[in-house]
Amino acid sequence: MIPKTYYIVTFGCQMNERDSETLAGMLEQQGYTKAPEKKNAEVVILNTCSVRENADKRFFGVLGQLKHSHEQNPGMIVAVCGCMMQQQRIIDKLKAKYSWVDLVFGTHNISEFPRLFANVRDEKKRYVDVWDGAGEIVEGLPAKREYPFKAFVNIMYGCNNFCTYCIVPYTRGRERSRRPEDILAEVKQLADSGCKEIMLLGQNVNSYGKLKAGDIGYCYREEENGVDFAGLLKMIDEVPGIERIRFMTSHPKDLSDDLIDCYRTCRHLCKQIHLPVQSGSDKVLKEMHRIYDREQYFALVDKLRAACPDIAISTDIIVGFPGETDQDFEDTLDLVRRVRYDSAFTFLYSVREGTPAAVRDDQVPEDVKHERFNRLVDAIHEIQEEKSVWYQDKVLPVLVDGPSRTNSRVLTGRTENGRVVDFPGDKSLIGRIVNVRITKAQTFSNYGEVVECE
Ligand code: 5AD
Ligand code: SF4
Repeated sequence: MIPKTYYIVTFGCQMNERDSETLAGMLEQQGYTKAPEKKNAEVVILNTCSVRENADKRFFGVLGQLKHSHEQNPGMIVAVCGCMMQQQRIIDKLKAKYSWVDLVFGTHNISEFPRLFANVRDEKKRYVDVWDGAGEIVEGLPAKREYPFKAFVNIMYGCNNFCTYCIVPYTRGRERSRRPEDILAEVKQLADSGCKEIMLLGQNVNSYGKLKAGDIGYCYREEENGVDFAGLLKMIDEVPGIERIRFMTSHPKDLSDDLIDCYRTCRHLCKQIHLPVQSGSDKVLKEMHRIYDREQYFALVDKLRAACPDIAISTDIIVGFPGETDQDFEDTLDLVRRVRYDSAFTFLYSVREGTPAAVRDDQVPEDVKHERFNRLVDAIHEIQEEKSVWYQDKVLPVLVDGPSRTNSRVLTGRTENGRVVDFPGDKSLIGRIVNVRITKAQTFSNYGEVVECE
């Protein structure tokens, strides 16, 4: 075990990645540094996700592996946190079968981590401290960011939508928005330290600042010069040094004309939107409680493409929601072919205990789900293959991330609309935006050459 080192395993979405950056920042403030591997770190944190069952399974798999290292290294502290910890059945399982875990905390008390951690370390006691609901947003927490030139910035937390399949409103609580001045201060500080790309994060960024009576956090309707999400984007667009702005996730029900107009007016807003549709069947959308139908979704896509013809649109789709018929699935295929997504994340419906869809008795058989899933993936790939032709020989600005994961001798980066491009180049280009000509555009990878630097 290497003293004063830590290792964080993050499961799930960007919100979790951002939370892990906060936890890493807190540990670094106390003089800890990142360990090369979890098995020899003094502090190991598993930041969990519960959106689908396989995330649960992966967590218990990693935790099982850690048991041995924990036994071998008496000073090792294993902490678990994140969405899974907000469920009583998980806490019960941990207490019964994994009582050697040193610290359990939840999504609502991350700011308490330094105190909880000190208790565990100094008193050598085990702690379980999970809050049911969120308190006021805590500002000014440290963060150890992964890249100096691109950063996640939370703008809101929680979700009020209660889609009938989804556990997130139960694990992340009600929507709370950060104050615009706090967000802007963070963005300015990032820009001053050389950050070029900002990814604004929230479960439903389009409802930024919309609160119901009794909720906590910022509410633009109560402010004299209230700032909604479109207003926030415009303010961030003016921050000197910020060259790219992205956001996720956008719920179609709240996608306003003002926001669509930002694609015309905000110079730094990337030509990209992630707009989860979940299903192409009106019946399923209704049962999912998505609050839009396919025609409304098509209308949004048309408006987005009118405002920004080259916009890349990505989505999330769930296959095999309870009661999904062959015809419902055909409607999803039809929607996918009409929208022609640039990319899509496809998921097999996963039963989440505590959600309304979980107790339905018309669950779709596994083999049917898989068969539909494969057909959907094929349809998406076919479109992606056709769309990749557009990129051939185009010269596009690419923010250089670093060496490619698949071939460390070349660099990798993303175009404005999110496409990954690998190309040969000197490491001094990392963190810069360079013009790259796409010499080989393929469905899943692109190769190019630098034609000109910033
Ligand atoms: N089963 C399958 N996919 C789900 N998602 C959320 N809940 C479930 C579930 N129970 C998907 C949705 C969401 C994405 C983050 O995860 O598509 O947009
Ligand atoms: Fe889950 Fe729906 Fe909220 Fe997204 S909008 S986090 S799918 S409840």
